[in-house]
Amino acid sequence: MFETKLFWSIEFWSFRFVSNFDFRISDLHEVMALIKKGKSFKWHRKHLLGLRELSSEEIIYILDTAKGFEQISTRSVKKAPPLRGKVVVNMFFEDSTRTRNSFALAANRLSADIIEFTEKASSVSKGETLLDTARNLEAMGIDIVVIRHSAGGAAKLLSRNINACVVNAGDGFCEHPTQGLLDVYTIRKIKGTLEGLKIAIVGDIAHSRVARSDMWAMTKLGAEVIFVGPPTLMPSWASKLPVSVSYSLDEVIEKVDVINMLRIQFERLGGNPFPSVREYSHYFGLTLERMKRAKPDILVMHPGPINRGLEIESEVADGRNSVILDQVTNGLAVRMAVLFLVNQARAQQGKEAKHEKRIYPD
Ligand code: MLT
Repeated sequence: MFETKLFWSIEFWSFRFVSNFDFRISDLHEVMALIKKGKSFKWHRKHLLGLRELSSEEIIYILDTAKGFEQISTRSVKKAPPLRGKVVVNMFFEDSTRTRNSFALAANRLSADIIEFTEKASSVSKGETLLDTARNLEAMGIDIVVIRHSAGGAAKLLSRNINACVVNAGDGFCEHPTQGLLDVYTIRKIKGTLEGLKIAIVGDIAHSRVARSDMWAMTKLGAEVIFVGPPTLMPSWASKLPVSVSYSLDEVIEKVDVINMLRIQFERLGGNPFPSVREYSHYFGLTLERMKRAKPDILVMHPGPINRGLEIESEVADGRNSVILDQVTNGLAVRMAVLFLVNQARAQQGKEAKHEKRIYPD
């Protein structure tokens, strides 16, 4: 039922575009084909909190939905109407360039209204709690909250206390689900599949929410993940995860199909995890010299922001194997898909709740 509705709603707005903006219906062919084919699949989540709880089917569903949205960015009129009349709040309690602007642009392209919330310019600086802030915004009639917070679990807390959809844009060390999704989207787009690929995630694993979300998405789609870094930046829980661990980049560089370099999260470090930055770069930096031993078609990834010369040499970051800017481009389509899907699920749940009320009056 839901899939049919989803199908028709997409078809409806693509028709609108044919008349309004010369939008090609074939742009959404992939999305519609998938929805038609996957009749048995139900997308039911009105929140996206992490990738740990998602099935591989759900992850693939988001990626395939994103494929349809990717086309919109190549049109002269880069807008589609599925979130028209909806309000998205970008609630960022930590600095961000890529994620914040990517969500804003994604919401924009889906025709939503956007509120840009910044902690410093809000009543949070006067002592208002996260929940009170969100409830006040909700009282103005918001539909989707995109939240980034330094506290792990902040997105989950919101999702339990407000009616709007909640999308996690990074919580503490825990998860950064849309980064994980755009990373697997990028790999899948170039390599066709993640099945059987060997992927190294290198650097500050202990403080990285990207490492966690990537690891869930990559392993669920069939890749083998190796965490690489110094023991001081390797979390003790790594041994409980479906990954292997290496303390030597030189040992793994020749074996992997994809390498994802992480930034050292200096703002999240308690003490000094290595004697000097120079020493870290020497052992764990991705240099041109090391790249000589890598597979010729290795994909070099980085979630950004890059610290050139520290975890990655400029020549590698800008080199022929680098897909770092492709990641940013793909992030937009992935975030459009996420906003679209959570909103659809919420609308559907609202309808079901109303229906139940009629059947079982109090
Ligand atoms: C994050 O928010 O975790 C970033 O995308 C990665 C970083 O800050 O290094």
